[in-house]
Amino acid sequence: MASEQNPLGLLGIEFTEFCTPDSEFMHQVFIDFGFSKLKKHQQKEIFYYKQNDINFLLNNDKKGFSCAFAKKHGPAISSMGWRVEDAQFAFDGAVARGAKPATAAAKDLPYPAIYGIGDSLIYFIDTFGEQNNIYANDFIDLDEPVITQEKGFIEVDHLTNNVYKGTMEHWSNFYKEIFGFTEVRYFDIKGSQTALISYALRSPDGSFCIPINEGKGDDRNQIDEYLKEYDGPGVQHLAFRSRDIVASLDAMEGSSIETLDIIPEYYDTIFDKLPQVTEDRERIKHHQILVDGDEEGYLLQIFTKNLFGPIFIEIIQRKNNLGFGEGNFKALFESIERDQVRRGVL
Ligand SMILES: [Fe+2]
Repeated sequence: MASEQNPLGLLGIEFTEFCTPDSEFMHQVFIDFGFSKLKKHQQKEIFYYKQNDINFLLNNDKKGFSCAFAKKHGPAISSMGWRVEDAQFAFDGAVARGAKPATAAAKDLPYPAIYGIGDSLIYFIDTFGEQNNIYANDFIDLDEPVITQEKGFIEVDHLTNNVYKGTMEHWSNFYKEIFGFTEVRYFDIKGSQTALISYALRSPDGSFCIPINEGKGDDRNQIDEYLKEYDGPGVQHLAFRSRDIVASLDAMEGSSIETLDIIPEYYDTIFDKLPQVTEDRERIKHHQILVDGDEEGYLLQIFTKNLFGPIFIEIIQRKNNLGFGEGNFKALFESIERDQVRRGVL
């Protein structure tokens, strides 16, 4: 139920909508990750992909909001659908709390929506679950669906926003004041040449987090590089929660998806710090999976190289640990810097 802590009755992420000038490539990446292409919107060129509780829409329409969004940003996340108890109630509440409403003419889908990060849309969805959902109601089965063996990705664990210097507070207030997100962590992260600050928020229902990143120093840091390429603030990465990260990566081996490489020395000491890790250490090293944790539990994570323009995907498996891999930030940051050096940015 909606409450003081959860004023809009938020219940989680229902879908992520992508748009791109090159839908062939994006389709292939979704398939390589183990998504199945199942349906098409009744009126529009919007395709529905699914894997367990992760729903993606790929918008190929030649007009409308997402089409214009892709023209401005290149490959992008043009909207998300967030689950709520009552979409009209959530929309009215959001607007009353200061959100900018999207008019019917401005959006591609009929659900109530407001503007979010970088003028992407946040739709409010109150029809979700196994039986009665928007894909069953508003989409039709494809004659030739692309059925893929799922690869163990269960849900969206978190999504991260990159914003311009000096605007982190604006965006954290947006999530706090409109939806009731709460602060979970604040980080100051330094690589060998560049730095950033990160501020993590958790949704009022506890189902997902949004860390917000802002670059520090000159504009060569990875956040400002993203903002330049994406032409504005937006989603930097989505993290898929995996049931078994080693099995997921084994299943993806040989696909087009490349992950960041980690210095080999990382594995000289990591298992001394985290002796409780039960997964096959040779496989962890082989896939260059990162490990982080404390006495209570640990997490395993890996990051793809930039996949859709400057957007990348994280894969994460949690074992009684709700962190973001803080212990890996330095190793990861330096890995991104090595990638920036290879690309001639640093
Ligand atoms: Fe992340």
